[in-house]
This record gives sequence, C-alpha cells and structure tokens, in this order.
Amino acid sequence: MKRPRLIYSWQAIPKVLLVAELLFMEKRQNSRSRNVFDSLMSEERIFKNREALSSTFVPSEFPHRNDEINDFANILKPALYGARPSNILIYGQTGTGKTAVTKYISDQIMQKAAKENKKIHTAYINCKQTNTPYGVLTNIGKTYSSEWEDVIPHAGWRIDKVYAALKQKADDNGGIAIVVLDEIDALVSKNGDDILYHLTGLNSDLNNSKISLIGISNDTKFTSWLDPRVKSRLGEESLTFAPYNAIQIEEILAQRATLAFKDNIVEPLVLSYCASKAAQEHGDARKALDLLRISAELAERDNREIVTAKYVIKAQSVMEKDQVRSIITTLPIHHKATLASTIVNQGKRENGQQTTGEVYSTYKQICKLFNLEDLSQRRISNVISELDMQGLIHAKIVSLGRQGRTKFISVAINENQIQELFAEDIELSDIIEELTRSGTYIRSTQMRLI
Ligand SMILES: Nc1ncnc2c1ncn2[C@@H]1O[C@H](COP(=O)(O)OP(=O)(O)O)[C@@H](O)[C@H]1O
Ligand SMILES: [Mg+2]
Repeated sequence: MKRPRLIYSWQAIPKVLLVAELLFMEKRQNSRSRNVFDSLMSEERIFKNREALSSTFVPSEFPHRNDEINDFANILKPALYGARPSNILIYGQTGTGKTAVTKYISDQIMQKAAKENKKIHTAYINCKQTNTPYGVLTNIGKTYSSEWEDVIPHAGWRIDKVYAALKQKADDNGGIAIVVLDEIDALVSKNGDDILYHLTGLNSDLNNSKISLIGISNDTKFTSWLDPRVKSRLGEESLTFAPYNAIQIEEILAQRATLAFKDNIVEPLVLSYCASKAAQEHGDARKALDLLRISAELAERDNREIVTAKYVIKAQSVMEKDQVRSIITTLPIHHKATLASTIVNQGKRENGQQTTGEVYSTYKQICKLFNLEDLSQRRISNVISELDMQGLIHAKIVSLGRQGRTKFISVAINENQIQELFAEDIELSDIIEELTRSGTYIRSTQMRLI
C-alpha cells in the first residue's frame, strides 16, 4: 500500500514548533547584537571617574602645597600688570607635584588674564619629548598663533632664522609669554645650554613683548652644568618641592579616591598601605596614585566590589615587574648578554654567586654563539657595575685574604619574574635557551681578580 506523502506546509507545522523557532531566531539575533563590552560597562562597580587617577589629571586643590602655590603665584603676579615675572627654577624629586602644580598655576593665570583682559601666553614644553632647540622654539612660537606652523617649518631653517622669526612673532603679538620647560635637564644634557643662553637673552632684543622661563628639574645638581651667566639668569627665583611623608601622601590619595571611586569601596587600610609604600620611595605621590589605581583595577578584574589590601600587594608586584621589564627591554645587547650569563651561571651554583671571571667566560661563549664581537673583561666589569646600579644584579666586593679581592655577583630579581620577562624578550630568551641546551656555562673555574 502506498503511504500518503507528507506535505510540509505552514499549516502542517504544529504551532508550538513555530513559536519555538521564532524564539530561537530572536535569541540568535540578540546574541549577534550583544557586544562583549556590554556587561563590562554596565557593571561599573568600583570607579566613578577613572580619569582622576591618571597621571595627567590636574586636581583643583593641592594638599600640602599651599606655600609653594602661594610663592609661585606671587612670582608670576607682575605678568597681570604687564611686567615681566622673574625666571624660575623649580626643583624636587619625581612625584612631588612640580608638573601638576605648574600646569594648575598656568591655567589659573590664563583664566585671570582673560578676565582682566591682559595679554598673557603660556607654553608647556616637556623637554624629554621635545628635546631639540628647534622643537622648543617652534613650540614657543605656536603659543602666539596657531598659524605659526605655516610660518615656520618643522625642520629645515637655520636656527638663527628661527630665533628671528620668533622675535618677530612675539613683538607682533605683544604681551607676556610664560614658557615652562619641564624636565629641562634633558634638554641641556642633549644639546648643552646654548638654547637657554639665547632664550634668557631674548628679552633684551624684544621691543613690544616679554618672555619668562620656568625650568623644572628632578636633578638638583642640574645647574652645575650650566654656564654661570645662564645659571644666574634662569635662577632669578627658585622653588623647591620637598618629598611628601606617608601622612601627606595618604591625604593626597584620600582626595583622589573621593573623586575616582564610588562610596565605601576601598578598605581604609588600602590608602595608608599605598601611602607608606610610596613614602619609602622618596615620597613619590605618583607612585602612590599608580599603586592605588592598579590595586583597584585588579580588584575590578576579579569582579570584586571592595578593594582590599591584598590587591595592593598584587599591584606592587605588577608595578615592580613593569619597571624591570622597561629596564630590560632597553638594555644594549652586551648588557643583555652579561645579564643572561649571570642568570645561566646562577642556576648552576648553590649560592648563585659568581665572580667577574665566570660571568665573563659565559659572556664570551654567548658572543661566539651569536656572532657578536666580544668586549674586554674590563668593559664587562663596568657593565656589571651598571647592571648593579639598575638593580638587576647584586655585585659585592669580597676580600679573599692574600689572594686579593673579587666581586661576587648574583641575580637581584625574583627568579619567576626573570623567566617570564625573558620569555617576552626575544634576544634574551634565545640566548638563554641556547646556552642551557648546549650546557655552555661557567667554563672557567679560575678566580679572576678584579
Ligand atoms: N599636593 C598634591 N595634591 C594632589 N595631587 C598631587 C599633589 N602632589 C602631587 N600630586 C599628584 O601626584 C602625581 C605626580 O605629580 P607630578 O606633578 O607629576 O610630579 P613631578 O612633576 O614632581 O614628578 C600627579 O598625578 C599629581 O596630580
Ligand atoms: Mg614632572
């Protein structure tokens, strides 16, 4: 008997199936329109305003910098009456608020000048980024007019032509220019102090305008490199930003935490913990703020609603690793080869300590393997001292009695950290892998005296 053919038509499909299919289609569409960031963004539990913890944020209040702000404002005040303020040199260790306070004061004087209808221009130049006289001059020029870029090309003019153009521009515009040269030591160490000599002498050539310079430096000895005339012209006034103590840093952190975080999400211990860590490192407020930000980010990544002290410990190890990473990646190749030698040797020593001769011997093997021309043992001895200063290795001088003295060298960073960091660094991981495989290490058992 012939079975009747089943004809599938809309009518033949039971209603339940149809509904199920429709629901399924909708779900598919939903999952297609959902974005991976949707849930992350809707679940903002910790931060109210992340920006408040970023390194470029300029707060509207500066706890423990009232005196400095007051002195600073008094020095710049003449600009509001059309007179040239003295040039200023600002000193202080990193993280003492030099950049942030200077930006705040520049901003304040611009606001006041606008209100009072006074012509004041301000330029902020970070000399680590803009580190040529040409770049500095074009940046100052830009403060007078946004069309300056059309007037002066970014390169190609003789420097005296650039000076002349800047003078012209300043006099055409009139007013007072306050030029901040942040990290000014970077400019001088790269180019010498000629540029500062010309800039500080510019006023005598200007007829209708004036220029004041504010130099900021982390290095208090910076002026000893300057020509005495430049030194006295630039340092007409000076301000020193002292390092903060733990209690002061905690107050700075508390101010930022209120801006950055939702209420009651940070354990009170967290702030004092971050503050005391940063106070141990020359009272660096930036370090404290970074530590707090990273702690909160780690807690957030773990889906926590409270930032506990445990996250500060984690954040600290993340920061240390980042620091070591940035040192290692910028090491020259012979430094890397020397560091690799100490690491390979260390693994084969009970106490991990090696002499300069042993490091040198492994280093020479590395050079042979990688077709590098090896440096002398004396040069490598200097490289060892540099690696010691950077905190990557320990090198201590030990007396061997009648045999004289030698250096005992060991690796200073945590072994797990090294392995992870080296795995990321192609040059180093190649070297270490090759050496470990071929067993080329500590060939010389002979003690070499330094
Ligand atoms: N007294 C202060 N009050 C509030 N924030 C501060 C204070 N001092 C420093 N900071 C903050 O600490 C961080 C580092 O300051 P910064 O000005 O960059 O230091 P420096 O230029 O001296 O290295 C910045 O985020 C800054 O806003
Ligand atoms: Mg700074």
